[in-house]
Amino acid sequence: MCFSHTLSLSVLCLLVTIWTVRSVPPQPPVRCDKTGCTVSNAYGAWPDRKSCNAANITYPTTEEELRKAVAYASEYNLKVKTVTKFSHTIPKLACPSGSDAMLISTSKYNSVIEIEPDRLTVTADSGVSLRELIDKVEAAGFSIGTSPYWEGVSIGGLISTGSHGSSWSGRGGSVHDHVVGISLVVPANSSEGYAKVIRVEEGRDDKLLNAVKVSLGVLGVVSKVKLSIEKAFNRSITYNFTSDVALEDIFMEHGKKFEFGDITWYPSRKTAVYRYDFRSPVNASGNGVNDFIGFQSNPILISKGVRALEKSLEASKSESGKCKTADTTLAYKKVTGNGLKNSGLIFTGYPVIGNQGKIQTSGSCLYSSSMRIDVSCAWDPRYNGLFFYETTAIFPLSRFRDFIIDVKKLRDMKPERLCGIDIYNGILIRFIKGSRAYLGQTEDSVVIDFNYYRADDALTPRLNQDVMEEMEQMAFFKYEAKPHWGKNRKVGFFGVKQKYGPNFDKFLEVKNKLDPKKMFSSEWSDEILFGREGSKYDGCALEGNCVCSEDRHCSPSKGYFCRQGLVYTQARVCRFSSSQVSMA
Ligand SMILES: Cc1cc2nc3c(=O)[nH]c(=O)nc-3n(C[C@H](O)[C@H](O)[C@H](O)COP(=O)(O)OP(=O)(O)OC[C@H]3O[C@@H](n4cnc5c(N)ncnc54)[C@H](O)[C@@H]3O)c2cc1C
Ligand SMILES: *[C@@H]1O[C@H](CO)[C@@H](O)[C@H](O)[C@H]1NC(C)=O
Ligand SMILES: *[C@@H]1O[C@H](CO)[C@@H](O)[C@H](O)[C@H]1NC(C)=O
Ligand SMILES: *[C@@H]1O[C@H](CO)[C@@H](O)[C@H](O)[C@H]1NC(C)=O
Ligand SMILES: *[C@@H]1O[C@H](CO)[C@@H](O)[C@H](O)[C@H]1NC(C)=O
Ligand SMILES: *[C@@H]1O[C@H](CO)[C@@H](O)[C@H](O)[C@H]1NC(C)=O
Repeated sequence: MCFSHTLSLSVLCLLVTIWTVRSVPPQPPVRCDKTGCTVSNAYGAWPDRKSCNAANITYPTTEEELRKAVAYASEYNLKVKTVTKFSHTIPKLACPSGSDAMLISTSKYNSVIEIEPDRLTVTADSGVSLRELIDKVEAAGFSIGTSPYWEGVSIGGLISTGSHGSSWSGRGGSVHDHVVGISLVVPANSSEGYAKVIRVEEGRDDKLLNAVKVSLGVLGVVSKVKLSIEKAFNRSITYNFTSDVALEDIFMEHGKKFEFGDITWYPSRKTAVYRYDFRSPVNASGNGVNDFIGFQSNPILISKGVRALEKSLEASKSESGKCKTADTTLAYKKVTGNGLKNSGLIFTGYPVIGNQGKIQTSGSCLYSSSMRIDVSCAWDPRYNGLFFYETTAIFPLSRFRDFIIDVKKLRDMKPERLCGIDIYNGILIRFIKGSRAYLGQTEDSVVIDFNYYRADDALTPRLNQDVMEEMEQMAFFKYEAKPHWGKNRKVGFFGVKQKYGPNFDKFLEVKNKLDPKKMFSSEWSDEILFGREGSKYDGCALEGNCVCSEDRHCSPSKGYFCRQGLVYTQARVCRFSSSQVSMA
């Protein structure tokens, strides 16, 4: 793929893509030496940019080894966190407390996938990757109804943060709502051997299941996940690149009409891309593949070039440069159908029809192949490629229309200022169904994702960061959107406990019962779960670690001051003002 930011780059990119043939898979997230281990996420940087340390790591391969690992931690009163082969969660949820903490990795706990055709279920070890799971299920003639769009995740890790695709139909777009059973390893007392496996089944232990389905890893280690499956089916996708006029009136119908529909909104380009995506009739067939362009292998030279270009546009405060980039990127997506491939090789036109397993998720940059030029995922931290924030807000359906209208107002004041998000993926709009999971959504909801530039250091402000901050605060405060647990900057989590109301307390009750010694808690996961705003410091608003209330929380020396929002006037954002002299 190419996040091609100029025409010449995208031509180069296309050429290189045709010739390339060696891909570098992501690096493992945990590294250990004699002094201990460090855990990072796939982006190589936690929101606080600090490293995460632990004393020791263990790699169980069976449920009994997993139980023993938890037993060891329990017997010696160690703090513990589960880590995966992928570590694709942005917040520091997987980081344990204290220097003697222990990590339990599921990266080698991935051998068992059992399909029960009569019961229409599949049960997998929690370390199994989403791709392996899907392929096994499809090979047996079944499909899994939903999944995140990115396949570089483990089944245990993805349900733990509430990961989702897009659907208001059937069990809905959240994977945890397809979960019908979970085995969980929890601490126990000495007479029980310090740890035990509890088996939670839908229909029998529903209250417990509501807590365990989305647990942020703080209840224990998920050992096995049982999902409901259905007979294999095909999907048909057409992208309609069109105007964003009346988006606020169309989105709901769109979500209802198309089983897997979504919308990508490029506000600065006044463009909406409607994804008409549904179960195809039995007489329509095809071998189409969804190889989403953002998740394809990217020549390392290109990722570096794109990052260098973005940095220079930031440094020169070039809105027009960003907008040109947004134009080229969007044009490239249009001609390539966003990475859809009719025959599995190239995009030749709509609709693209293919089996659920090939359409629901992608991530071809994850796999090595033999190539002439080195390629990797575009954000691979080893190569100074893309580096960005990701805001993901989940709206109650009834509030979303007004959010669109507000963003349009903000956009209409000066569309160029939103180009910085449109060079990534605009605003991705997806649909998820109400859930009984305590840390899920109680009602049918709309999820938005947007990405934007993150600087190499914590104290460098971004071009038009006030606009992104205003949208972020609008979403989370004005419209009371909930944060996706696996994404977001710290500000997204402020007040999250109150948003979950009584369900939050039900979750905590289960937590206190299953993990009374709080072995699976840490200051970082507490920060996310309880959403308390910590103390403010100079520059804290730049990275979304606080909402500014004084200029020093922004960057007065660089001309960024704490100001009110333009549309949502209660917002407090860091805005650039060239006329203002630094007070610092
Ligand atoms: C490029 C990209 C695209 C993405 N696209 C989507 C998307 O379309 N939709 C979406 O919803 N999300 C998406 N995500 C987010 C992603 O799905 C979640 O962050 C997911 O939780 C990551 O899974 P993981 O296996 O890497 O888990 P990790 O990030 O390693 O772990 C997540 C949390 O779960 C805990 N955990 C992991 N395994 C277990 C276990 N076995 N038992 C108990 N706790 C456990 C960890 O301690 C940690 O707290 C995307 C992320 C990236 C990087
Ligand atoms: C690491 O954990 C294992 C248990 O999995 C234990 O046997 C070993 O002694 C620990 N090592 C250290 C240095 O703590
Ligand atoms: C251990 O736990 C079991 C089950 O919860 C309980 O019945 C037993 O009394 C406990 N034993 C001790 C020593 O706490
Ligand atoms: C694309 O969407 C627009 C706006 O909803 C609609 O008017 C148009 O008919 C659609 N085009 C196709 C090919 O479906
Ligand atoms: C598939 O069947 C539907 C009705 O069931 C029909 O309208 C359509 O033309 C058929 N398509 C093909 C390609 O045969
Ligand atoms: C899906 O498409 C494939 C390939 O064209 C075809 O063989 C298969 O019968 C289709 N399956 C269903 C359930 O429509």
